[in-house]
Amino acid sequence: MSARVLVGEKGFNVAVGMLQRGDIVGLPTETVYGLGGDAFQPMAVAKIFEAKGRPLTDPLIVHLPEAQWLVRVATFESQDQKNLTEQLANAFWPGPLTMLLKKVPELPDLVTAGSEFVAVRVTSHPLFQKVIRRLDSPLAAPSANRFGCISPTSAEDVQYELGERIDVILDGGACQHGMESTIVSLSNQKIRILRPGPITADQLRKYGHVSITTENVNTPGGSPGHYAPKKELRIIKTDIISVQPKPTTGLLAFTQPDDRVAEGFGVVEILSPKGDLREAAANFYHALRSLDNSKVDIIYAESVPEEGIGVAIMDRLRRAEHGSLKSSRVAKGD
Ligand code: TXA
Ligand code: MG
Repeated sequence: MSARVLVGEKGFNVAVGMLQRGDIVGLPTETVYGLGGDAFQPMAVAKIFEAKGRPLTDPLIVHLPEAQWLVRVATFESQDQKNLTEQLANAFWPGPLTMLLKKVPELPDLVTAGSEFVAVRVTSHPLFQKVIRRLDSPLAAPSANRFGCISPTSAEDVQYELGERIDVILDGGACQHGMESTIVSLSNQKIRILRPGPITADQLRKYGHVSITTENVNTPGGSPGHYAPKKELRIIKTDIISVQPKPTTGLLAFTQPDDRVAEGFGVVEILSPKGDLREAAANFYHALRSLDNSKVDIIYAESVPEEGIGVAIMDRLRRAEHGSLKSSRVAKGD
């Protein structure tokens, strides 16, 4: 059985009705599609974990329609942290920045997997915002993929990932960024990036000292086998020329490859013909998914420059490589 894919006012009303009753719905955000449920209904939150097959130890991001709603889910540990949060909220919300803050006791512990911290973001997607406002309750929403698999950037991808496990997907077209939000923790004018994403270190530097900590498996999205395709994926270490292409090998190219290079591969996906990192990010998961579902049995991926959102792309590529090379899926996440 597959999920109903809905659009427009009717879709909106059906989705809100379901969320009010404690059901879960696939919804578009500006980053990737999310699997949303009312954060204040523990049964709804439990359904999210169940549908994804996600361990209850892995907390969910809580989504708000505007920064004024922060008081419903989070508090501050110090005046400094409050000031910094406000500055970042003014600069980047609504948008793809998630902040880790102290959770209020009223928010069900299941959402944060028992942690005293909650990850919060204000989404800029108009449909998602509208759903939260009508529901009048924050939405817990992880990416709408099965645990350990590739994040969805279209309603069709959500259908592929979770169609058998959920009833309704709201279709809002393709996601703008195509890459999950940047997650940060804040203290004493220090901004720690726990998961790189569309808001870059350079953009954050204006507001405090920035460090990046993504190696630790305990940080968000930190399990090394995250975002893994089913097929083997290898990042090309030197030049595409070094790969011996065969009809059974696929190429995930950053820019338009030379015709003579491309023609040896069975399938070629190009992230951005002109080499634009934002465009590459927006196309990344879709291209990876296409290769994964194609006839090839190994995917070679070209590196992208590690600057701006390229940091996030390389982070996901390395995890995809690690996850795909592991025979066990146990260490994967999200
Ligand atoms: O762009 C996004 O952030 C998307 C859209 C749907 O909003 N959401 C998303 O959620 O990527 P998810 O669950 O796939 O990834 C969130 C990551 C997970 O690795 C989780 O462990 C971490 O954030 N996380 C969530 N709440 C946390 C918390 N309270 N403390 C530490 N890590 C947390
Ligand atoms: Mg995820």
